[in-house]
Amino acid sequence: MKESIRTAVLGLGRLGYWHAENLVSKVKGAQLVSVADPLEGRAEQVARELGVNKWSQNPNDVLEDDNIDAVVIVTPTSTHADMIKRAARNGKQIFVEKPLTHTLEEADDVIQVIQEHNVACQVGFMRRFDPAYAEAKRRIEAGDIGKPLYFKAVSRDGNVPPEEFIKHSGGIFLDVAIHDYDLARYLMGQEVTSVTSTGNILMQSNQFMEKYNDVDQAMTYLTFDSGAAGDVETMRIAPYAYDIRGEVIGTEGSIQIGSMRYHDVNILTSKGSTHNLIPDFPTRFKDAYLLEMINFIDCLREGKKPICTEVDGKVALEIAAAATKSFVSGETIELNNKLIRL
Ligand SMILES: NC(=O)c1ccc[n+]([C@@H]2O[C@H](COP(=O)([O-])OP(=O)(O)OC[C@H]3O[C@@H](n4cnc5c(N)ncnc54)[C@H](O)[C@@H]3O)[C@@H](O)[C@H]2O)c1
Repeated sequence: MKESIRTAVLGLGRLGYWHAENLVSKVKGAQLVSVADPLEGRAEQVARELGVNKWSQNPNDVLEDDNIDAVVIVTPTSTHADMIKRAARNGKQIFVEKPLTHTLEEADDVIQVIQEHNVACQVGFMRRFDPAYAEAKRRIEAGDIGKPLYFKAVSRDGNVPPEEFIKHSGGIFLDVAIHDYDLARYLMGQEVTSVTSTGNILMQSNQFMEKYNDVDQAMTYLTFDSGAAGDVETMRIAPYAYDIRGEVIGTEGSIQIGSMRYHDVNILTSKGSTHNLIPDFPTRFKDAYLLEMINFIDCLREGKKPICTEVDGKVALEIAAAATKSFVSGETIELNNKLIRL
């Protein structure tokens, strides 16, 4: 087993910073040796704050540094394909945030380069590592609900991203619903064979989304290769909380995942009973972001394959691309996925 993995983080925005912070102090066997971000002063600021010795405004300095074993790519999605290919060609092990790439052509291209250079790649579908989803997976595999027949997902976020983000996000199916498409195949243990989706702009203030063929609310109906079915509800405008839930209904029972309760505290007054709700994704998935990074570093130290690879990244992207196509065309899109590995 390797003692330590010399790691660098590329992209120090909202999520890159958390990954860097976790790698500095909370991930056994990881050594954060360098950070990079093209934004003036950002890498230096983060390096000083976290006590990292090397920083750069130029990602090439990291990608070409022989002293680095693994890179954590947390840059905008449109840069992932180029970053992954350059990292693989320089022999770096790779963690890349979801989605793997922006397009399916790019995904095929990066898979080829990753496999040619024989490096590991883990995609940031952190919900697989969330304790509740991980326990659900374990219970489903143990047969506790029998054979899975129906998958249900709800992802409602109340923070509408700014227009500049929407413009480059790839749309609600690619940017948000993709987490649930990955969970659909992971929890059901089956591949998605058809996708039908709809979407709407429900809030007047989000009309700008129309320019980008995007919506603030979407539904995706899925069918699976065993004949099972499912639905994924996705919303950017939940006015009350960050509300993430899932359910798998099987022949012997159902498993419900997630709750909106922030603290395990109930306040009882003569007006009734209240509790705080989870406000945002960093709060809801704090543990999952840490656990996925622990898993990545453990896999590299022990020479194991990550549970969520570039191939899983591509399959989820295919479902998202089909959902986008279905939303635009109004038609059901058939997929030809054979069971890969779940
Ligand atoms: N897993 C999740 O739940 C989750 C949540 C949020 C974002 N993401 C993903 O993480 C990625 C980053 O999202 P974010 O919200 O942190 O974005 P962000 O805009 O907050 O940060 C991106 C950072 O990357 C930097 N950057 C831009 N081009 C770069 C380059 N070529 N090299 C190095 N750095 C570069 C920017 O200066 C910025 O600091 C996206 O792919 C997004 O889909 C995943």
